[in-house]
Amino acid sequence: MAAMLEIRGLGKRFPARAGREPPPWIIQDMTFSVGAGELLTIVGPSGAGKSTLLNIIAQIDTASEGEIVFDGVLTVSPGQKSLRPGLDRRIGYVTQDDNLLPWRTTIDNVLFPLEVQGGIDDAARARAAELIQAVGLVGFERYYPHELSGGMRKRAALIRTLVYDPPVILMDEPFAAVDAQTRTQLQEDLLRLWSLKRKTIVFVTHDITEAIALGDRALVLSRRPARIAGEHAIPIPRPRNIKDIFTLPGFAAIHQRIRADVQ
Ligand SMILES: Nc1ncnc2c1ncn2[C@@H]1O[C@H](COP(=O)(O)OP(=O)(O)OP(=O)(O)O)[C@@H](O)[C@H]1O
Ligand SMILES: [Mg+2]
Repeated sequence: MAAMLEIRGLGKRFPARAGREPPPWIIQDMTFSVGAGELLTIVGPSGAGKSTLLNIIAQIDTASEGEIVFDGVLTVSPGQKSLRPGLDRRIGYVTQDDNLLPWRTTIDNVLFPLEVQGGIDDAARARAAELIQAVGLVGFERYYPHELSGGMRKRAALIRTLVYDPPVILMDEPFAAVDAQTRTQLQEDLLRLWSLKRKTIVFVTHDITEAIALGDRALVLSRRPARIAGEHAIPIPRPRNIKDIFTLPGFAAIHQRIRADVQ
């Protein structure tokens, strides 16, 4: 598999504050790659530096050390003068908070990234309609975020990222704040969308079961400073029955191995 993203020797510390000790390393010596079309999951404890890592990949924050190569081109290096958030829309980012604009309806939120780009045409509207259908939001196009359930808002945020068709999508615990049943549904939606269009996905979670259910491969991050504490191929064939993921052969063994790394 050709690498879509290569993270090489990445390190991060935030700037020192006046009168405080030198700032700690949040991420240190982190190296891994993500194949084109791969769904990589990253598991790590709270505060490990997962969001910081995604922010650096998405270029909304700088690296202190190391570099990132995107599709064969060096895109992040330390001391870089300017950031290119989202790398010209080649990186989609579903942040930890759904970030829907409260004064826009579902459809207008979904079309927002295209509108900013000046690119809403019939094809874009058709794609948005298709995605709304795929995640069961038909009938809710004219609702405002406060009129949607938490799970619906997550779906809207997800398809807002898919609508402009970025080759790489970063997802930061996107399903953490919903109940278990909705979460399973959202995971199924994601896998269905991913199987239609093989995007490269980096999916961050603190839930080991979710990392196994979704991933081709799971990386485990250590506590601060974050490093790669383990790497596990997920040997469960697709399509996977997410609802019964616990019962599938191989699940228990991989769960145990990942849990051992997390501690
Ligand atoms: N802008 C910032 N300035 C200083 N420190 C920061 C900044 N952003 C994050 N940190 C620190 O970096 C560490 C990692 O934070 P981060 O948000 O990346 O963790 P996380 O793994 O995403 O946690 P969670 O699972 O709770 O979302 C924390 O100790 C946090 O306080
Ligand atoms: Mg986070």
